[in-house]
Amino acid sequence: MAKAGYYGSYGGRFVPETLMEALYELEKSYQAICGEESFRRELDFYLKEYAGRETPLTFCRNMSEDLGCRIYLKREDLMHGGAHKLNNTLGQAILAKHMGKKRLIAETGAGQHGVATAIAGAVTGLPVEVYMGSTDCERQKLNVFRMELMGAKVHPVESGTATLKDATNEALREYAASSADTHYLIGSVVGPHPFPEIVRDFQSVIGTETKEQILKAEGRLPDEAIACVGGGSNAIGLFHPFLKNDVRLTGVEAGGRGDAPGDNGASVRFGRPGVLHGALSYLIQDECGQIGTTHSISAGLDYPGVGPEHSMLNDSGRVSYGIAYDDEVINAFRYLSVKEGIIPALESAHAIAYAINNADRFDRDDIVVICLSGRGDKDVATVSSIMADEKTEALKER
Ligand SMILES: Cc1ncc(COP(=O)(O)O)c(C=O)c1O
Repeated sequence: MAKAGYYGSYGGRFVPETLMEALYELEKSYQAICGEESFRRELDFYLKEYAGRETPLTFCRNMSEDLGCRIYLKREDLMHGGAHKLNNTLGQAILAKHMGKKRLIAETGAGQHGVATAIAGAVTGLPVEVYMGSTDCERQKLNVFRMELMGAKVHPVESGTATLKDATNEALREYAASSADTHYLIGSVVGPHPFPEIVRDFQSVIGTETKEQILKAEGRLPDEAIACVGGGSNAIGLFHPFLKNDVRLTGVEAGGRGDAPGDNGASVRFGRPGVLHGALSYLIQDECGQIGTTHSISAGLDYPGVGPEHSMLNDSGRVSYGIAYDDEVINAFRYLSVKEGIIPALESAHAIAYAINNADRFDRDDIVVICLSGRGDKDVATVSSIMADEKTEALKER
């Protein structure tokens, strides 16, 4: 029998004694509340009337013609806040309120989860504090401003590489100190049990809707579903309702600058099992087992680990994990903008890049669903400065 909180041999609850009680309380409260009619009704109200669900499943004519198959995008970019993250933050904020918690804390990389937590905190009336690496604060200034505008306090984290891993360390430390009145609203399917399960359940709305929508549009399920993988929440949200169906499932990790250690964020491809942030999962490590440094053009995929359920799905072969390199991601960012008039988040552009790279695998009648996890407004400054550098280089070569 599967052990609670484990996905095969992955997952678990590797935390200091001081956090155990908070995690048991969270597990018990979630189990009690998630099936309750009144909780579901409250969450459904916020998702529908406030966040804008259901999100469309858009058939992309131009991209389909170009890639030689039938491409649909699941439009999480059209959620309020601009990304899939709000599905989870609304769920957890309402849960925290039912648990009598007075305050929310969160970690964030790209800032989208921080923004989504600030939104959920504002609408449920809970104050929010967000931990964010100072490198990410710099590359995602717009999202720092949005969080502050909605009343959240942002704590820049200077330790380590000043990115998502370090922000998560700080948030966990603060949770251990203040869990009596504070809920740690974790942003992906990572961390100790029961977080991976809670986040997956709240994000599964993506796949559940996709299934209904594609059956209506095409009368059958897709041949393949593709999503980017940081911690893996938009991917597991899309994949989970399809796990028992004959649908190819593909997660796309950050290939970064290349395959050398330190140049990417592809934990499944280049990692091995280890413990980080309270769970056993695939992690990028150096030869001594220390957490390795990572790089990705997208802050949201710049993380050395992946959710434990993904580790199991990789080992069992049920989900395939590929990578997209930074330069391919920039091209995909431009490609979707030009072809379909949709500017994707750099994270989501990894999934687009993978579809472009694998176009020769698809037949004309193949149906391919890609999760567009977020919109690219937050990334236009990054991409425009890369494009300006490219122009300067081209001028120098003339
Ligand atoms: C738009 C977007 N997509 C994807 C991700 C990666 O997270 P996950 O793998 O949990 O979906 C992020 C993280 O910040 C994000 O902002």
